[in-house]
Amino acid sequence: MASTWTMLALFALAAYILQATIRKKKNGRRLPPGPRGLPILGHLHMLGRFPHRDLHQLAKKHGPIMYMRFGFVPNIVISSPEAAKQFLKTHDHVFASRPVIQAVKYVAFEQKGLLFGEYGPAWRSMRKLCALELFSNAKINSFKSMREEEVGLLIQSLKQVDGGAVDVSAKVSSMSVEMTCRMVFGKRYTDEDFDEKGFQSMIQEGMDVSSTPNIADYFPYVGALDLQGLKPRMKAQNKVYDAFFEKIIDEHAQARDQGKTKDFVDILLAYMGSEDAEYPIDRSRVKAIMLDMLVAGMDTPTTTIEWGLSELLRDPPVMKKLQKELDEVVGMDRMVEESDLENLEYLDMVLKETFRLHPVAPLLLPHESMEDCTVNGFHIPKKSRITINVWAIGQDPNAWTDPEKFFPERFVGSSIDVKGQDYQLLPFGSGRRHCPGMQLGLIVVRLLLAQLVHCFDWELPNNILPNELDMTELFGHVTTRANHLVAIPKYRLHK
Ligand code: HEM
Repeated sequence: MASTWTMLALFALAAYILQATIRKKKNGRRLPPGPRGLPILGHLHMLGRFPHRDLHQLAKKHGPIMYMRFGFVPNIVISSPEAAKQFLKTHDHVFASRPVIQAVKYVAFEQKGLLFGEYGPAWRSMRKLCALELFSNAKINSFKSMREEEVGLLIQSLKQVDGGAVDVSAKVSSMSVEMTCRMVFGKRYTDEDFDEKGFQSMIQEGMDVSSTPNIADYFPYVGALDLQGLKPRMKAQNKVYDAFFEKIIDEHAQARDQGKTKDFVDILLAYMGSEDAEYPIDRSRVKAIMLDMLVAGMDTPTTTIEWGLSELLRDPPVMKKLQKELDEVVGMDRMVEESDLENLEYLDMVLKETFRLHPVAPLLLPHESMEDCTVNGFHIPKKSRITINVWAIGQDPNAWTDPEKFFPERFVGSSIDVKGQDYQLLPFGSGRRHCPGMQLGLIVVRLLLAQLVHCFDWELPNNILPNELDMTELFGHVTTRANHLVAIPKYRLHK
């Protein structure tokens, strides 16, 4: 025990000396302003349960380009549309990498995938492959009937509990899991046909282990000791994923050329090992991309729907107005179809407002600078982490009137969109690392929210009044409701 403490003390001393050296090495170049930090710890102690809100408060005092240090890691925090444009457009080529963090290294196949891959030729070719083959309009359209079928099943199951309280979050989440599995793997994976723990708990353990704050990511030298004991858990989780994906790859290899709609694994396997392919990829990259699609595709639409429906429940006039639009465009005799979506303007406004107030990833994913860079006269050191606080940008009073209010009408006559060209609204990011699943994600959230509001009238249980609905957040990979949304659906269509 004593020797561990001695080692820790030595590491702390080394850390302190190294930090002092790093600061001196700036050669007088001006870092962005920021709060005063503590020796060694830097500003880590300033982050609580809601880091996006803490950083927003600090940015109000120190500015939209703020320097902070979390342990050893320099962090640049961006909190205005103008600053976001500098980092995601003007200097995007410098800030398009991702930092190496332990969870990604050990759980997510050594950062070989798209989501966390370091910027470089391998990442660029994977990104191109995914854009052309997995997220093309033709591919997205090929899953249209599957999506409508899954949403239809969800509506049926809600209809069966007509009048009773339902855990909407859980229902929407399991539908999203099924949809993603069918698209990526070509079939549903239920708890029964997957190892003794079950599919959902496998995914949950992966999320838990990789979202636990890890000292090693801030103090690499102390981290080598693995004081939190996370490394074995991460490696074990990777083994579970590995076995699961190996099984799927084998199943696909055996069932090749059976004339069914090609799922993502079929497409990736066609490229695997092919010497002639423009983008050859190996087996571990295929597994890394499979994991990316699960992690990035499952919870993101669910979370948006949860927040969107919560805001509608808190604002009955907006809910009624949306139902009116749906009744006029679709009528009461059939359900919404994907082809209706382009005619649902108010739905679009409700979703934009939901994305503004509840971006699924309030700090996007961390970016990393690949070289020293000067932005607005500030020195941004190589290997800084870049945190884009899109939640704070959604609250910027220079960009939005009454930013704290849920008010979809603010988008009437406005050309502001969520697609990454308007820096005041960036739920999918922008630039080289923007979300490649955006088109697909938008179709799913539009279709699902439209169906839920068109098919049902909704009430809160236990006489909870609209303005009493708890809206506490749970910050994590995606920022969800802290408590599941429970509500009472009442079927309202004629058939
Ligand atoms: C409402 C739905 C969705 C939202 C709000 C969303 C949001 C985001 C955000 C904020 C990022 C990080 C951008 C950055 O770091 O600058 C991202 C990246 C990514 N998303 Fe999405 N996403 C959604 C749906 C999807 C879906 C359905 C998929 C795939 C099935 C997907 C796949 C990805 C991938 C692979 C990346 C990493 C891109 C890269 O680093 O190059 N997303 N998404």
